Amino acid sequence: MTNIPSLEHAVAAVLQRVEATAAESATGFPVHADPATGDWVRSADGFWTGGFWAGLLWLAGEATGESRHRVQAVAWANRLRARADSDTALRGFLFWYGAAIGDVLAGDARAREIALVGARGLARSYHSAARLIPLGNAFGESTEVAQLETNIDGVPGGAPLLMWAHHRGGDRSLEAIARAHVARAVELFVRADGSVCQAASIAPETGEVLRRYTQKGLHDGSTWARAQAWAMLGFTQAARSVDEFGEAALRVSDWWVDHLPECGVAPWDFDDSRTTRPVLDTSATAIAAAALLKLAALAPGRAERYRAAALAMTQALLSRHLTPVSPEDPRPCGMLLDGCYDRRTGRAPQHELVWGDYFFFEALLALTGRLDPIAL
Ligand code: GLY
Repeated sequence: MTNIPSLEHAVAAVLQRVEATAAESATGFPVHADPATGDWVRSADGFWTGGFWAGLLWLAGEATGESRHRVQAVAWANRLRARADSDTALRGFLFWYGAAIGDVLAGDARAREIALVGARGLARSYHSAARLIPLGNAFGESTEVAQLETNIDGVPGGAPLLMWAHHRGGDRSLEAIARAHVARAVELFVRADGSVCQAASIAPETGEVLRRYTQKGLHDGSTWARAQAWAMLGFTQAARSVDEFGEAALRVSDWWVDHLPECGVAPWDFDDSRTTRPVLDTSATAIAAAALLKLAALAPGRAERYRAAALAMTQALLSRHLTPVSPEDPRPCGMLLDGCYDRRTGRAPQHELVWGDYFFFEALLALTGRLDPIAL
């Protein structure tokens, strides 16, 4: 009989992976790791993912109560400070997970200061005709430059960062921008059936919608798993402060729970019809599990459904996709395998992804009672 690790074993394994990565002498932020060796591809400036590395260290501090993880987290967060005026909507990921959660979890004053700088920088990119924060010239992923581009990826992280900064820094305009950005995302990306379209092009002068499309999914009408998961997370984070976003959070979350395959792990795109050896995205699954645990706290009527789904998904991840997958597995312990970064370009399509590790750890800590999921 296969020995299935428990939630507690998985917490210990991820912690081991975080500590081993932190002990490496390489200086860049880990982005994705080779599934055969566990060697990280790193980014010097934090790309869009650097906040998740500092975020893993903040979570490690929460899990262990040890100050050394928080000291390391602050040092990495400090390196993200240079990105405060970097023209990308994904600064929300950098400064919410990289810094603001250090204030939320540990009351860290340095993290708070860095996060406020990042939030103010993000707010300066608001485009009033479009009523949103565009992807920006430093977004670094989209090749679509002709119009003003936006996608659902820019909602999670960004919305809670601006809402938190309003309360921490006192500037009401930050929350107003977050509200407008989230409301526009609901209008642009949520389809009638509750599935999510990833991206849209907007006319800069009028704010008119020129097209809805996908940047990383199978096709424009398909449901890329991470678009759905980012929407679940972003709308739930926004609903903590603004009740009216609760309905969108429930709709996109119900769609996920209704469409998740029996194996408990999402395919990279829900419209990829292959059934033998499907390409999965464990990172989307981890994001969705973390989001459902938050939404369970906001929606008592559906709490049992969401918690049960999040537990089943997390158990599916740890039982089949977490190293070691067998007693002879030589790879570093605690790698979450089978994340699909970008199937279109072939970048890291079946790899360990730093944001997958982050959300998997968040879900594990929530399920084992070490973290109040709605705090983040
Ligand atoms: N651009 C964020 C993502 O790939 O999910």
